[in-house]
Amino acid sequence: MLKIGMIGAGFVAGFHERSLRSVRGVEIAGVCAPEGAKALAETAREHGMGKTRVFKKINELCAAVDVVCIFAPNFARLDILRKIARAVESGTGIKGIICEKPLARNLAEADVMARMAHALHVPTAYFENQLFMPSVVEARSQLAAVEQGMGPAHLARSAEEHGGPHEPWFWDPTRQGGGVCCDMGCHSIAIGMYMLTPAGKAPNYLTPVSVTANMSLLKWGKEPWLSRLRDRGVDYSATPAEDYSNVTIKFKDPESGIRSVAQATNSWMYDAPGLRLLMEAFGPGYSYTVNSLQSPVGMFISDTAAEAVADSELALEKAQASRGALVLQPNEPDLYGYIAEWRDAISAFEKGQDATLNFEFGRLVTMLIMAAYMAHERKKTLDLTDAKVLQELEDYVPLIQQGKGAEVLLGE
Ligand SMILES: NC(=O)c1ccc[n+]([C@@H]2O[C@H](COP(=O)([O-])OP(=O)(O)OC[C@H]3O[C@@H](n4cnc5c(N)ncnc54)[C@H](O)[C@@H]3O)[C@@H](O)[C@H]2O)c1
Repeated sequence: MLKIGMIGAGFVAGFHERSLRSVRGVEIAGVCAPEGAKALAETAREHGMGKTRVFKKINELCAAVDVVCIFAPNFARLDILRKIARAVESGTGIKGIICEKPLARNLAEADVMARMAHALHVPTAYFENQLFMPSVVEARSQLAAVEQGMGPAHLARSAEEHGGPHEPWFWDPTRQGGGVCCDMGCHSIAIGMYMLTPAGKAPNYLTPVSVTANMSLLKWGKEPWLSRLRDRGVDYSATPAEDYSNVTIKFKDPESGIRSVAQATNSWMYDAPGLRLLMEAFGPGYSYTVNSLQSPVGMFISDTAAEAVADSELALEKAQASRGALVLQPNEPDLYGYIAEWRDAISAFEKGQDATLNFEFGRLVTMLIMAAYMAHERKKTLDLTDAKVLQELEDYVPLIQQGKGAEVLLGE
């Protein structure tokens, strides 16, 4: 049994506990977090996930587990990895380190994350679940022969949208890294790149050529939404972030020289059922589409019965409504690719290897996100083949992330 230790016990850690119930050969041995650890450990024990213990300190957790997972907020990443590094340097053996998306708030931080893990000689997994979504993976597998004959996809469109994050720290661009582009653009950019990558090639195979981006604050910068955020301790008139982002990235196949385009759209104003993932890829003579809200299960709850609803988020992540016609997805951990990403990481760690997506891949995605913010700030297409631009990106911190989003989002 591989012993898993989770640092962070909030929303995503809960999702991973649900996911691990479908993964063989693992137990959740420990949880460490300022809030939620006791409840998560109890849930894990109730579901037969092992004798899950709560640890106060990261070094103690590391000593009791084989795999350490960073499921804490973005601003805490570096500090947590430093503590894991100290434990490893003082002799604690671990088989793998997992970090949830995004790897970091900016490229300088992502670089430290990747270098630190590399120096420790511990295999890593960058958790980007969407590349493991069975619907996308199966569509590609069904189309493998077609792709072989006709060539890889040349246009990918991807989107992730919901009504806005659950915890205040996500809304604070200085702590989270930005708005929806940093939070969810990382998913849509990564899956867009994957859909364009020829079958059998590494996830970082394509060469990014250029980036354009449009970001706006459309909903949460105006009343009554501004005041609703203020009630939760977030002031979007002082430190706004984008609630809408549209990023277009051009890639080049380094072998054939053929160009392809990924369009990633993300928003925090999806006042519609729950969370929607859309993916579509177009190749020469073929295509596929994925819509995560197309479910075989529909429900209806009338006004008179609505009082009895326990928790609408049990039916669908980020569900905002508990009556009317509702969508239910019976197995979200599978739908979103969490179970498959775990299986991939576990089998790689057992062999002493990085998962399919490692911290270096997370660093690449961070670079593309930073390029999007820079393109938006400069209101121009960014040339990613220009060495000067690549160097500028190394220590670039977007104005939005600096808390100066008003300069690029308000009054436009
Ligand atoms: N793959 C996905 O689709 C997905 C979905 C949601 C969140 N995430 C990512 O997961 C991470 C956590 O998000 P969440 O929604 O679970 O957040 P959350 O706010 O719900 O939970 C955060 C947890 O981390 C703990 N924590 C806070 N500071 C800490 C510190 N310094 N050290 C250790 N633990 C600390 C909190 O007590 C809490 O238990 C984020 O980076 C987010 O981007 C990914």
